[in-house]
Amino acid sequence: MDEGIILPGSGADIAGISVSLQGVTKIYDSGVAALGQLDLKVRKGEFVALVGPSGCGKSTALRIIAGLSAPTSGEVRVSYHGEEGRPGQGISGQAIGFVFQEPTLMPWTSVRENVRLPLKLARVAAAQADARVEEALQRVGLLEFAKSYPRELSGGMKMRVSLARALVTDPDILLMDEPFAALDEITRFRLNNDLLALWRNLRKTVIFVTHSVFESVYLSQRVVVMTSRPGRIAAEISVTALEPRGEEFRTSAAYTDYCRKVSAALAPSYSGRSAL
Ligand SMILES: Nc1ncnc2c1ncn2[C@@H]1O[C@H](COP(=O)(O)OP(=O)(O)O)[C@@H](O)[C@H]1O
Ligand SMILES: [Mg+2]
Repeated sequence: MDEGIILPGSGADIAGISVSLQGVTKIYDSGVAALGQLDLKVRKGEFVALVGPSGCGKSTALRIIAGLSAPTSGEVRVSYHGEEGRPGQGISGQAIGFVFQEPTLMPWTSVRENVRLPLKLARVAAAQADARVEEALQRVGLLEFAKSYPRELSGGMKMRVSLARALVTDPDILLMDEPFAALDEITRFRLNNDLLALWRNLRKTVIFVTHSVFESVYLSQRVVVMTSRPGRIAAEISVTALEPRGEEFRTSAAYTDYCRKVSAALAPSYSGRSAL
């Protein structure tokens, strides 16, 4: 009689799913309703972009997935290293890598020590940590700057350090909150390409928040468009494009078409707001 019934928390319904949000809402103590009934499933190894107007709850959603903030209602489940779990329960802080808009580096110490921090916190043995730090720096192309200090680096390089720090624990899931928003366009394009190359090699699940329609389409396999606050999903647009993506895709008619679709899905969220 019980056949087919899926118990909450059994994990049986999220085979192949890395992150699952069901009916997630968030009302802050201040009374601000940030998220309203957010439903989102992200497959293992998928690259999803989350776009929406400022203040619609994108950062809130990422913090909830990371277990840094509790939802007011709804169910959040993440799967990592082959195990099922809920954020904040059993996550050692290593299963999920988080990259913020600000690189948030420690200014008083070297690039190498900044990248090593999560391993120190996880008490990884020194020899093993050394190897992992070198590998992470290599991946982001910063090995020769290991001894430099953050003040000696450009904005793009600081962001690479931040990315290396998120990758050093070899997380299954990478959450990125508008990481390239403050960079100039050329640096941003370069980091977009490098991030795609990393994703192709490592096949991590990536949830990438951006308010750039162009960036969301260029990077992701699926663009999830959110409504204005309280954020819900307004539309999902699958982006199927020839791999590997590069300048050819960025200048193609298909790319423009996808961007137009995402913009159209976003438009109602901006109606009634001042253009400024
Ligand atoms: N810690 C908090 N306490 C109270 N309100 C918050 C907090 N964090 C965010 N908010 C509010 O929740 C809404 C969504 O914020 P946020 O998730 O940062 O949006 P986004 O990242 O899409 O710009 C905003 O109105 C913001 O002011
Ligand atoms: Mg935000």
